[in-house]
Amino acid sequence: MPRIFSGIQPTGNLHLGNYLGAIRNWVQLQADYDCIFCIVDLHALTLPIEPAELRQATREVTAAYIASGIDPERCIIFNQSMVPAHTELGWILGCLTPLGWLNRMTQFKEKAGKDRDNAGLGLYAYPVLMAADILLYRATHVPVGEDQKQHLELSRDVAGAFNRRYNTDFFPLPEPQIFGTATRVMSLRDGTKKMSKSDESDYSRINLTDDADAIALKIRRAKTDPAPLPSAVAELEARPEAANLLGIYAALADEPLPDVVARFAGRNFSDFKAELAALAATALGKIAGEMKRLMADPAQIDAVLRRGAERADAIARENMRYIADIVGLLRP
Ligand code: TYM
Repeated sequence: MPRIFSGIQPTGNLHLGNYLGAIRNWVQLQADYDCIFCIVDLHALTLPIEPAELRQATREVTAAYIASGIDPERCIIFNQSMVPAHTELGWILGCLTPLGWLNRMTQFKEKAGKDRDNAGLGLYAYPVLMAADILLYRATHVPVGEDQKQHLELSRDVAGAFNRRYNTDFFPLPEPQIFGTATRVMSLRDGTKKMSKSDESDYSRINLTDDADAIALKIRRAKTDPAPLPSAVAELEARPEAANLLGIYAALADEPLPDVVARFAGRNFSDFKAELAALAATALGKIAGEMKRLMADPAQIDAVLRRGAERADAIARENMRYIADIVGLLRP
């Protein structure tokens, strides 16, 4: 069976973009693939985070996976730092990754900002650890949102570099799976910026834990333009906020975008927003409720992570033995 690997950083505020761009698609894929879903806690250390917040967020992302319908029996759910081979392989791959490749990464440029000399080595090496996450399990497919495309191309390049250097085909080149109607959910405050955990305005995003009132308020306040809703998908190109809200509606309702556009054509935003808020509150309310129930029993969540880590570690150890042998690391 082809194998999927994907992950989310436990850095607080899981939002609608994470859900529609990633988690929701994973739920569908678990029937047809051997799936490994990770909570990438080592990646979360690349930017400052409080220890208590990291622990809490790690459990919360785990709860979100399960609450959204990922079955921890069928899939492997674990946190990255429980399997030491991620960092080991990250080092080996880092030795094969030219700086020029890393210098092109737009996420590093955005996150490091102007003061690049003060950005951490971990933030710079971030995509190499991500490649290690995927390649350690010899995953063939990686379902992510659009913002991860460049990192995945790098993962493919790194896999290719390893295979060429050691004259092997040990690593499959991982295939990105970017699909669905909401591969790039945008900020509610600015339709040209992606919805993000790190946006300072909480009004920019719908968090998975927001209640119906918070969702309604945020959608009511969402930026729009003064015209009524368009009657054709082509008109959306010049209207990023309308495009984003209609796209979210289509994704949540599981309807094709043209059908949704046709239904709301010529209506005003306030009507549409009320319907969108109701739809979002129903869809996310179920998940939020289930997350709350799971979070009330952290020991249960930790047990899922421990069991997942045991299963992941078994695969990782076996693959690391081959990798060590390929590169000449003696394991006497
Ligand atoms: P992260 O934690 O930033 O995001 C997790 C997932 O959510 C998707 N996503 C979005 N999709 C649509 N619209 C948005 N506004 C939006 N924001 C986020 C992301 O594309 C991602 O799929 N580097 C990864 C984590 C990672 C990983 C991996 C992923 C580490 N190792 C190995 C896959 C495979 C990240 O920062 O995701």
